[in-house]
Amino acid sequence: MRVVSGIQPTGNLHLGNYLGAIRNWVRMQDEMQDGSECLFFLADLHAISMPHNPAELRAGTLEMVAALVACGIDPNKSVLFNQAQVPAHAELQWLLNGTARMGWLNRMTQFKDKSGKNREGASIALFTYPVLQAADVLLYQATHVPVGDDQKQHLELARDIAQKFNNDFCADDAPVFTLPEPYIPPQAARIMSLRDGSAKMSKSDPSDMSRIDLVDDADTIMKKVKKAKSDAEPLPSDAEGLEGRAEALNLVTIYTAVTGESVDSVLAQFGGEGFGKFKPALGEVLVETLAPISARFRELKGDRESLDAILARGALKARDLGRNTLDQTYSALGLVRG
Ligand code: TYM
Repeated sequence: MRVVSGIQPTGNLHLGNYLGAIRNWVRMQDEMQDGSECLFFLADLHAISMPHNPAELRAGTLEMVAALVACGIDPNKSVLFNQAQVPAHAELQWLLNGTARMGWLNRMTQFKDKSGKNREGASIALFTYPVLQAADVLLYQATHVPVGDDQKQHLELARDIAQKFNNDFCADDAPVFTLPEPYIPPQAARIMSLRDGSAKMSKSDPSDMSRIDLVDDADTIMKKVKKAKSDAEPLPSDAEGLEGRAEALNLVTIYTAVTGESVDSVLAQFGGEGFGKFKPALGEVLVETLAPISARFRELKGDRESLDAILARGALKARDLGRNTLDQTYSALGLVRG
């Protein structure tokens, strides 16, 4: 089993990232058997696909390492690194550009969302981003890729690219690439904004009140939860009663994801109650879960030397793990390298 996943080091890690992805990274890392490997990386090369500030990217990269370690990623168990220190990601992307089709990329919804009305002004990197994402996982022969629901389409593309490359350039019994399986959690695959139950919680939402950041203190978390959009109805006594109530469903989903309780059990406790009672209870379970993470994050983030060392060590290991696949890809394409 080879687990690979990434996160962009832009903005703070938020509750959606944590519940949708990072928590599963930690679980998979902790359940690893001998011979298996987990690789987690900061997708800094992806971060330049949108307008960005270099000083913020530099600082954000180190902060994201601290945040991941605070969440439970252990650099002694997992390979933790950033793409920019492993040139094979960018190299493999170029090699896969020959296999990826324009039509496939044209269908990517994230490109449509992020480029908005200004498609002509979007960067080339934003368009070809999913090919880099395919390279990220194919380079390491990933078998499992733990991600939130919004990355599903990118992972399907990675599978399509791998399959076409294997068909076009490899003998049937010697494919270069493993087809990766997305691992999308049954609960919390898409945590929504606290201000709008139809938009996902996102680092790029201009409203800070739309998301809970893992670094928020207890007062901020309570305030954000109390101000979260809800409705005037009491909570229903069963899951069916949440249909058509996007904000209520989102708050109940967050509660279940954080406590591990089922929707039925949460509604058995809170059914018939208004949000005036439910929100403080939700705020409390969130504070309980996040307080140790943010305390650890604060301790780690100032220790620049240790964070640099984690990345340097991770990059060495990642370069090693990716070398064979990169060599095979060059060779399958007939590229002469001496
Ligand atoms: P990014 O940085 O946007 O998000 C990191 C992870 O968090 C998940 N996520 C969510 N899950 C549930 N609810 C939400 N509201 C929510 N928001 C974000 C994402 O699904 C993701 O798993 N392109 C990727 C980074 C990437 C990558 C990769 C991931 C680059 N290469 C290779 C996997 C494999 C991204 O921008 O994620």
